[in-house]
Amino acid sequence: MLAHLVEQHLKTEKNFEKAALKALNDVRGTYGIALQYKGEPDKLIAARMGSPIVLGLGDGEHFIASDPSPILPHTKKVVFLEDGEVAVLTPGEHRIFKLDSSKVMRAPTEIDWNAEQAQKGGYEHFMMKEIMEGPEVIENTLRGRLIPEKGMAKLGGLESVAEQLEKIERIIIVACGTAYYAALVGEYMLEEHAGIPVEVELGSEFRYRKPVLNERTAVLAISQSGETLDTLEAVREGKRRGALTLGIVNTVGSTIVRETDAGVYNHAGPEIGVASTKAFISQLTALGLFTIFLGRQRGMSEAEGKEIAKELKRLPAKLQQILDTKETIEKMAGKYVHARDFLYLGRRYNLPVAYEGALKLKEISYIHAEGCGAGEMKHGPIAMIDKDFPTMALAPKDSMYGKMISNIHEIKARKGPVIAVATEGDTEISQLADDVIYVPQTIEMLSPILNVVPLQLFAYYFAKQKGLNVDRPRNLAKSVTVE
Ligand code: M6R
Repeated sequence: MLAHLVEQHLKTEKNFEKAALKALNDVRGTYGIALQYKGEPDKLIAARMGSPIVLGLGDGEHFIASDPSPILPHTKKVVFLEDGEVAVLTPGEHRIFKLDSSKVMRAPTEIDWNAEQAQKGGYEHFMMKEIMEGPEVIENTLRGRLIPEKGMAKLGGLESVAEQLEKIERIIIVACGTAYYAALVGEYMLEEHAGIPVEVELGSEFRYRKPVLNERTAVLAISQSGETLDTLEAVREGKRRGALTLGIVNTVGSTIVRETDAGVYNHAGPEIGVASTKAFISQLTALGLFTIFLGRQRGMSEAEGKEIAKELKRLPAKLQQILDTKETIEKMAGKYVHARDFLYLGRRYNLPVAYEGALKLKEISYIHAEGCGAGEMKHGPIAMIDKDFPTMALAPKDSMYGKMISNIHEIKARKGPVIAVATEGDTEISQLADDVIYVPQTIEMLSPILNVVPLQLFAYYFAKQKGLNVDRPRNLAKSVTVE
């Protein structure tokens, strides 16, 4: 429609820029567009209203994308358009103005991701490269932010609101997809260790439920892209209702970063695979830091802070240990590759991990996988179990271990195959489950960071063995910038 509208205005204006501007002033709604006119092929016009637009400023060449990643191999200098802005690009110049034609002056942002980081780095798929980056990602998320000897976390992005945070009585975390599952883990972390009430809301639901908020509520958005429209709208709703807005975001300079009052960057580097993997690891790590930060403001003991900090620092090496066993997981995926359904079971901190494991399998393998709280199994899902319906059971040696073992007994009694994700050295579980993936021990609140990795690898190998396009699954987009 826009193309036709521009064409219509060209008949009277005889000028591409003027016609485009007139057309954009005629329409209402959400768009992020790039226009080219065959009469002026060296000119591109981009405009943003609601959906992201990034300009790349090169040497004698300019680029338009909805996210910096595809631009990075060409230039690191980018300009983020704001809503209601239009950019005109030619090979030699770029101009930005508002819909009312007033000029906008904006200095470019320098993105420090290099072009190679945005490539596959020798792996067959971005997803595998990104899973393998896990240990480095944890280090990058932690870098300069832990004071282990004091059991404290230093989060520069939150300094400006540190006093306000002390008075916050409730946190509502808003997110979608994988980021939503990270938020559910964050809820356990923050309530148990920082003693603050937390609710988690789907970005897509939040603004439709007339949430009750005030200046003592913080709305925390978690998003890899920083452009997910539902999450962004939840932030805007939080703002409208007077809440402090915060972000845990990976993409530098993205809309959620710009629209929140303060936040924490993930520093996970670009994530290209549609299935989010390293961003999840990094979101959980950042939530661990945030828990120490808030906890120490509200009575977390120095000893507890030190314990969490020490364990956070140990995670990269432990994660590497899991990655080193990836061939075993590849074989296991081969054994189950003909299954049409999967149940993922977890409890407490590992319930969101079960949801996330199921989502990974669904989105890249197109088979039915269901995440379920182990305590809920008896309320319905157990009816599905038979010899053709395998279960992935998250059963680390933690406070829920006994309960998980009894679930596994129930499944085995119904001839259901079980793959268990268990703690190293657990011999009991190997007597019970058909297959076991061992994971190093850590404290319960950080265990999701390790336990999710076998599930990511399993989903990857499962989809690969089915010959599917792992990085670009059908029907999905990396940044969901529409409602
Ligand atoms: O960029 P975001 O973290 O806001 O994206 C949220 C979801 O769209 C995203 O996690 C999606 O669910 C992934 N495909 C999951 O792998």
